[in-house]
Amino acid sequence: MEVTEEQVLEYVRSQIDGELLEHTLRVLEYSSELAKRNGQDQVACERVRIAALLHDSAKNIPPAKLLEISLKHDHPIDPVERDHPGLLHGAVAAFLAREELGIDDPSILRAVSFHTTGEEEMDVVARLLYIADFAEPGRDHPTASTAREIADRNIDEAFRYVVGERLHYLIDSGKAIIPRTLHLWNTLTADSG
Ligand SMILES: [Fe+2]
Ligand SMILES: [Fe+2]
Repeated sequence: MEVTEEQVLEYVRSQIDGELLEHTLRVLEYSSELAKRNGQDQVACERVRIAALLHDSAKNIPPAKLLEISLKHDHPIDPVERDHPGLLHGAVAAFLAREELGIDDPSILRAVSFHTTGEEEMDVVARLLYIADFAEPGRDHPTASTAREIADRNIDEAFRYVVGERLHYLIDSGKAIIPRTLHLWNTLTADSG
């Protein structure tokens, strides 16, 4: 990878600050810890760290601008995302990382792009980021601590738990569900037989 972690951190610091930056740094440490504990090689660990740093870097961009940038990149926009463009902050973070930093690793870009909604096919980098975003130690919701406990034992189980909890949350709070999140869930239930 041509860009260094320090350069990515510098870029991220220019985009976000305060609690969001603190959350990002906790996701960085926690996802990295999970990756190492699960025996991921150095390349995967580096990908996880860069993806973690970048994942919320577009979160301070206003919704109308998120929509505009996504449209400019011909990003397939779900009707739910059109109604709630804040959901596009991952996709936009990935577009900007490519443009501003020259990051073109598809594993990193997809992990960043789909860290909120998930997608049907998620590699280990995307899965670790998805778990860490939900369960980093600063998250004090009981489901986050349960996710951390499960992640101590089994990453695949933790991933499935987090996908399920996000769905519970959406249903319980009366929010719409993007079809790709449901497709992901169905993939995971198919995995288990
Ligand atoms: Fe996010
Ligand atoms: Fe996040």
